[in-house]
Amino acid sequence: MAKLKSKWICQECGFQAAAFLGRCTECGSWNSMSEEVIRDISSSKNNERALIRSSIQGGVNSFDSPVALKEIKKENYERLATGISSLDEVLGGGIVPGSVILLAGEPGIGKSTLLLQVAKSLETKHEIVYISAEESASQVSLRASRLGIVGENLYIDTQQDVLTICEHINTKKPNLVIVDSIQTIYHPDITSTPGSISQVRQTAEEIISIARAANIPVIIVGHINKEGVIAGPKVLEHMVDVVLQFEGDKAKQLRILRAIKNRFGTTNEIAIFSMEGAGLNEINHAGAFFLADHMDKVSSEQELSPGTAIIAYSEGNQVLFLEVQALVGTSVYSNPRRVANGWDYSRLLQIIAVLEKKVGLTLATRDVYINVVGGLDFNHPSGDLGVALAIATSLLDRALPANLVTIGEVGLTGEIRQVSESEKIIKEATKLGFRQVIAPKTRRKANSTNGKENANKIKISEVEFIKEAFNLIIPDWQKDLQNTRRSTKSPVPNQS
Ligand code: TYD
Ligand code: MG
Repeated sequence: MAKLKSKWICQECGFQAAAFLGRCTECGSWNSMSEEVIRDISSSKNNERALIRSSIQGGVNSFDSPVALKEIKKENYERLATGISSLDEVLGGGIVPGSVILLAGEPGIGKSTLLLQVAKSLETKHEIVYISAEESASQVSLRASRLGIVGENLYIDTQQDVLTICEHINTKKPNLVIVDSIQTIYHPDITSTPGSISQVRQTAEEIISIARAANIPVIIVGHINKEGVIAGPKVLEHMVDVVLQFEGDKAKQLRILRAIKNRFGTTNEIAIFSMEGAGLNEINHAGAFFLADHMDKVSSEQELSPGTAIIAYSEGNQVLFLEVQALVGTSVYSNPRRVANGWDYSRLLQIIAVLEKKVGLTLATRDVYINVVGGLDFNHPSGDLGVALAIATSLLDRALPANLVTIGEVGLTGEIRQVSESEKIIKEATKLGFRQVIAPKTRRKANSTNGKENANKIKISEVEFIKEAFNLIIPDWQKDLQNTRRSTKSPVPNQS
């Protein structure tokens, strides 16, 4: 007979305590402990499941004693190519047999669509079991027919009990299992609701162990909450081999897929998709995709609106150009507001501090809003200089030329620091028709030919300090600064 045990489990980090705690002693979260009743599983049931696992052939090699590294036979993984080339690149060349991949993203971002498309290209040669615990079989079928899936080798399983799911995997032994989603399946021995931390951990553990033993790759879908944390969660990141994050603005079509952990490859590559009527479309050279309407201004040599700058960064094989907008206004609050959308908040505060101290802008009494257009989180310091110029042009009511790209990290002493792959960004900017670039003086030049080729088509202005960028690009900005100072009662910061 199964015994019932009650435990208090932190829903943020998975820490277990015998009694309620107002604050988790492990991660410090307040009010995160929730009581979960766990049934002590009878040994006979455990034995039964162990038997299932041992009956599966082709398990992962393990040794009884330590073995010299050079004596370990290197496994030549035959990766399963998903048929979506940029997804394969993100995975490091395809899906490794027996690996467990977590696909995380906000609800509605397109996880199920992406995985059905993976199934579509794989089902010509392989068998796939799609555990659809969220949607009914007919819902999946409706979407599948929209995506043009034949469905001969794609098996839909709408079970939610993880033990039954494991039995089905064991009987069918497919080439790929997709679990959509981990938050909607449950373990019958745990009484807490599906999606709670114990359920997520236990169900994932069952699926992972059966996948490893049978050498079947599994893709697990995990919803993330508003704060961007994989719900129920961090525990899952440690258990799986690859964590893929799917992000973008649901209101817009663009989606970015990146690996935030990969045991079988790098985490440098990204895949960009556009969500269309017939599913997700790969975008191989995104470049100016996010600038869309802006590109007309580039070719006609117009000016941008005050408070706007073009920033760029390179990630994997992609170079992305984005528009950053700033709005600086007189604050009615005693603590002026600083709001950052798609940009790191503490980086914004740092840039504001540098602008005050090293350039002399008066921002202490002003609200500053920053938005990186396109719905992406631009977590790259190469955009610092652009953000600084956007804030300055909004304050001074000046405009930057539309054919200008800014790259450079702003250091605390006001120096412009080098960013990775600046040569690649400049090359791509030249191809797209940009004619001016402000880049760090210390940038590493890839090779002299590259430099010359760029120099002919694009004017590269190298700057060492942030003030130089201002002098170069906003003529007479000091005069405008005096005017803005006259219009504010706040003390003028030191210029150093
Ligand atoms: P979905 O894959 O269900 O998201 P998730 O599994 O991450 O919750 O996709 C959600 C959105 O994608 C849905 O609101 C509609 C849109 N969509 C399209 O625009 N085109 C399509 O072909 C499909 C299948 C979905
Ligand atoms: Mg879904």
